[in-house]
Amino acid sequence: MDENIGIGNGIGKIILMGEHAVVYGQPALAIPFPLVNVKTIIRSSKEAGKLNCSFHKGLIIDGPKKISGLITVIKQIIHSFDEKLEGLNINIESSIPPERGMGSSAAVAVATIRALYDYFNKSLGIGELFKWTKVSEKIVHGNPSGIDMAIVINEQPLYYIKEKPSTPLECNIDGYLIVGDTGQMGQTKFAVSKVREAMEANPQRSNRLIKEIGDLTNKAKIYIQRNAISDLGQSMIKAHEILIELGVSNNSLDNLVSTAMNNNALGAKLTGGGQGGCIIALASNKSRANLIANKLLENGAKDTWIMDMGVDLQ
Ligand code: MEV
Repeated sequence: MDENIGIGNGIGKIILMGEHAVVYGQPALAIPFPLVNVKTIIRSSKEAGKLNCSFHKGLIIDGPKKISGLITVIKQIIHSFDEKLEGLNINIESSIPPERGMGSSAAVAVATIRALYDYFNKSLGIGELFKWTKVSEKIVHGNPSGIDMAIVINEQPLYYIKEKPSTPLECNIDGYLIVGDTGQMGQTKFAVSKVREAMEANPQRSNRLIKEIGDLTNKAKIYIQRNAISDLGQSMIKAHEILIELGVSNNSLDNLVSTAMNNNALGAKLTGGGQGGCIIALASNKSRANLIANKLLENGAKDTWIMDMGVDLQ
């Protein structure tokens, strides 16, 4: 008898501009980042339901709190199919470093939801994929803007405003994006709550900063459409300065941003929730991008990736 198997994939994401401000209704720009990805493979087994991922190896029901979003969505989907966890062997292989602002939680959820539907031979509409991913993301991030899942599911550059239909972002940038990982787990939920506290303590100042990020994002959108790469770089560095003021950066992120700028990046900033995680930097050519990536590694980055925005985003 043929073995029953279900497979699902999910890719990483990078927020170019607008993180945190997007939670408060400002726009954000984000791109798919397929250089890192997740594959979930489900096989049948004779045992109780098992999960094998970087945070847990064992019974699905014994998974740690860290992955409660994923476990909840698995259980709810199985329940909706009138099936049982028993007999499922779920394997999640991911090259997306977790909690680094690269959309790992959304990508793991998307890959696993797709694999479950594949395993049980059900057809999965995009609305349903959003609905289930949201179940997991709400548990992981509290009150997410939804940008991570929008990118991971749509797999195209987006101009995103919370609770509005996202629009494709026309991306004409002829340049290279360098991603540098501090190696520190970012804490998106904590960073988002820090901004909320600042908002409550000093709404006038926080609203001004959030609005400034939104304005920079709108300008950056035009620069991306017009291939104005130096202007885009300037917007990025300004956005990073505001994110520092909002309290979501830290020394490791600032150190990598300075390293990139000291090595002639056109711009650099943290990406995602901050408080750890990754930075992004912009370079006009490949050799500059390689040099910046090497300097980031020499100065504490645990890993780097280089994306050709002119080719990889087409
Ligand atoms: C996280 O990738 C981006 C944040 O803006 C949070 C969110 O939008 O839900 C920090």
